[in-house]
Amino acid sequence: MGVFGFLVHPLNVNDVSRKYRLAQKLSPRVVASALRRRPPFVLTEAKGIVSVTGAEARGYFVAVPLLPFHFSALPEEKVLKKIARACRIAQKEGARIVGLGAFTALPGEGGRKLLSMVDVPVTTGNSYTVATAVEGTLEAARLMEIKLSRSTLVVLGATGSIGRACSLMLAPSFHRTILIGRREEYLLKVKEEIEKRGGRNIFITRDLESVKEGDVVIAVSSASEALIEPSWLKSGAVVCDVARPRDVSERVSKERKDVLVIDGGVVAVPGNLEMDFNLGLPKGIVLACMAETMILALEERYEPFTIGKEITVEQVEEIKALAEKHGFSLAGLRSFEKLLPPEKIEEIKRQARFMAASN
Ligand SMILES: NC(=O)c1ccc[n+]([C@@H]2O[C@H](COP(=O)([O-])OP(=O)(O)OC[C@H]3O[C@@H](n4cnc5c(N)ncnc54)[C@H](OP(=O)(O)O)[C@@H]3O)[C@@H](O)[C@H]2O)c1
Repeated sequence: MGVFGFLVHPLNVNDVSRKYRLAQKLSPRVVASALRRRPPFVLTEAKGIVSVTGAEARGYFVAVPLLPFHFSALPEEKVLKKIARACRIAQKEGARIVGLGAFTALPGEGGRKLLSMVDVPVTTGNSYTVATAVEGTLEAARLMEIKLSRSTLVVLGATGSIGRACSLMLAPSFHRTILIGRREEYLLKVKEEIEKRGGRNIFITRDLESVKEGDVVIAVSSASEALIEPSWLKSGAVVCDVARPRDVSERVSKERKDVLVIDGGVVAVPGNLEMDFNLGLPKGIVLACMAETMILALEERYEPFTIGKEITVEQVEEIKALAEKHGFSLAGLRSFEKLLPPEKIEEIKRQARFMAASN
C-alpha cells in the first residue's frame, strides 16, 4: 500500500476557530500569534483511497500552524524549518512522499530548498492542479458558449508556478491573452515562452483591474486576501479561481449573477475516502494538489514529481494520464464550494444575455 503525507495550514482565523472553540473568544491577532508558536501536528489519517487498478493508498494530513500572511511576513528560513518539521512528522508516521499544500508549496523556490532539509521526497501537487484548472476552464467556457479563438484570456498570477503553466497551455487557443503579475521581467519571460508555443497577441501588465478584459479568467495569485472585486468582471465571463485563499471575493457570488465562477482544482477520489477532518469539501472530494500526492503514492513513485516554479506541459500531461489510470476525475463544476447544476449555468447565460441587450 502506498503511504503519503500532506501538509495543510489554516487559510484564515475562522479555520482555526472551527477546530478550537477557544479561538472564537480571542482576537485574530492573539490567535495568529499563538498559532505561529505552535509546532506542526498530525491532523488526521486518510484511508480508503482505492484505485480502479486495485492499488491502495493511505496518508497523514499534517497541520503547519501558520496563516497565509505568515509565509511572507516571517523569515523564509523559519518557515522552511517548520515545514521540514511537518515533513518529518509525516515520514515518522510512514509517509514515503509528502505533498505541500497551499502556501507550504511557496517558500524555498517552490519546495526545492526543502529537498536538502528532509529525507523524504516532496511534491507541490501543482502539475495536477494545472491539469484540472485547464480542464475545468475549457469545460466552463464550452458551457458558456465562449468561442476561444475570438476571446481574451486573462491570467492573474501568470508568473507563478500554476499560472505560468496554465498560460502556456491555454493562451495559444485564444485570440488574445493578458498576463498579470507584479514583476515585469518575469511576465516578459512567460510571454516569450507562449509565443514560442504559437501564442499571439500576448500582453503583460501589473494592473490587476485588467481582469475586466477577460472573457475567460484564471485567478491563481498567492495573495493572502481576495483581489477580484464584483465590478471587475465582464458580463458572461468564466472565472476559474484556483487560488487558496481565493482570489475572487465572495461578494461576486451574490452580486454578479451574470458571471460563472468555478472552483479550480477540485477532484473526486476513487474508493471510499475516509478522514476525520472537514476540509470544507464534500466527502470523497479533495484539492488537486492533494490528489497528485495520492496518485504518486498509488503508483509508489516516491520522487519529487513537481518541484520549483517551472512546470512543463509534459509533466502536466503525465500526471493527468496517471490520474485517469487510477480513476481520479474533476468533481463536476463547483462554485464557492457548491455543485453547479446545468440550470444554474443556463440562468447565468440568460442574465449575461439580458445585460448585453440592455447595454
Ligand atoms: N486548488 C488547488 O488544488 C491548489 C493547489 C496548489 C496551489 N493552490 C493555490 O494556488 C495559488 C498560487 O500557487 P503557486 O504555487 O502558483 O504560487 P506562486 O508560484 O508563488 O505564484 C503566485 C503568483 O501570484 C502573483 N501574486 C502574488 N501576490 C500577488 C498580489 N498581491 N497581486 C498580484 N499578483 C500577486 C505572483 O506574482 P509575482 O511573483 O510576479 O510577484 C505570482 O505570479 C495559491 O493561492 C495556492 O494556495 C491551489
